[in-house]
Amino acid sequence: MEMENWKGEGMERHFWPPMFLDPSYRWEDYSVGRGVTVRLLAVQDGGEGKTASCLTGQMVWPAARVLSQYIVDQPELVQTRTVLELGAGTGLLGLVAAKLSPCPRKVVLTDNNMTTLDMMEANIEENFPTQTTIPRCAHLHWGENLDKFLSDHGKFDVILGADVILWTQYIRPLFKTVKNLLSQTETAMFLLCYQCRYTELKDKVYEAAKEVNLLGKEIQIQENATFSELEDKTKDTLHLIKFCHQFVNKCETNAVCSTI
Ligand SMILES: C[S@@+](CC[C@H](N)C(=O)[O-])C[C@H]1O[C@@H](n2cnc3c(N)ncnc32)[C@H](O)[C@@H]1O
Repeated sequence: MEMENWKGEGMERHFWPPMFLDPSYRWEDYSVGRGVTVRLLAVQDGGEGKTASCLTGQMVWPAARVLSQYIVDQPELVQTRTVLELGAGTGLLGLVAAKLSPCPRKVVLTDNNMTTLDMMEANIEENFPTQTTIPRCAHLHWGENLDKFLSDHGKFDVILGADVILWTQYIRPLFKTVKNLLSQTETAMFLLCYQCRYTELKDKVYEAAKEVNLLGKEIQIQENATFSELEDKTKDTLHLIKFCHQFVNKCETNAVCSTI
């Protein structure tokens, strides 16, 4: 990927382009179990050094691998449902969801970085070369132009986010996005897997969720095969949380539920 191919829209407000470009791109197979393998173009400098400090969407982060494993272990979570991935980066997680689905088109992968979107598009083509129904790829900057996105794509049964809790200023826009784009049903969920890189982050996540009436529940991941392969320092910081709408009245009978 050449420097001049960097289009910058969205990201130039926040980052210096060369931070996001690394010469070590390579195609690699990611096996997530149960026969699901995704072939990805990504940066290979995994986890340490300059790539990690750049916080790019051009490598596959441990959170994406752990959440991919989680949905492979419970394919019914995504199989027949509409799925949106936020900050999808290389697209591993969304592509796994699409491979589990009988209708991959129900899966939409998004990011706000145009270089990342180019790479994601290449990864979609590589994994769905001949199918007539393939996952979609779209620009989405959290909190912005949500009405337009909604009219183009509708609401989603499941929203996925892997390692998208990085900068505190984006936590509220992220949850605003989830609030606007998550179907208003009891089974709708936002699955968030992230590395808690500084202590106050976790509280901020729950605060932002509460502001949009989403209830979070931490999911135990010790049994997750991919999680168990991670280094201890990564394990210690990794969280998987399931957020659902907070309904005012729980339906104990067949009575109609009211929502906030
Ligand atoms: C650390 S990477 C994670 C990528 C991928 N989900 C993974 O786990 O491998 C964070 C991703 O979020 C995207 N991102 C950051 N801020 C964003 C924003 N405000 N709106 C949309 N995407 C954003 C970045 O471009 C990047 O692809």
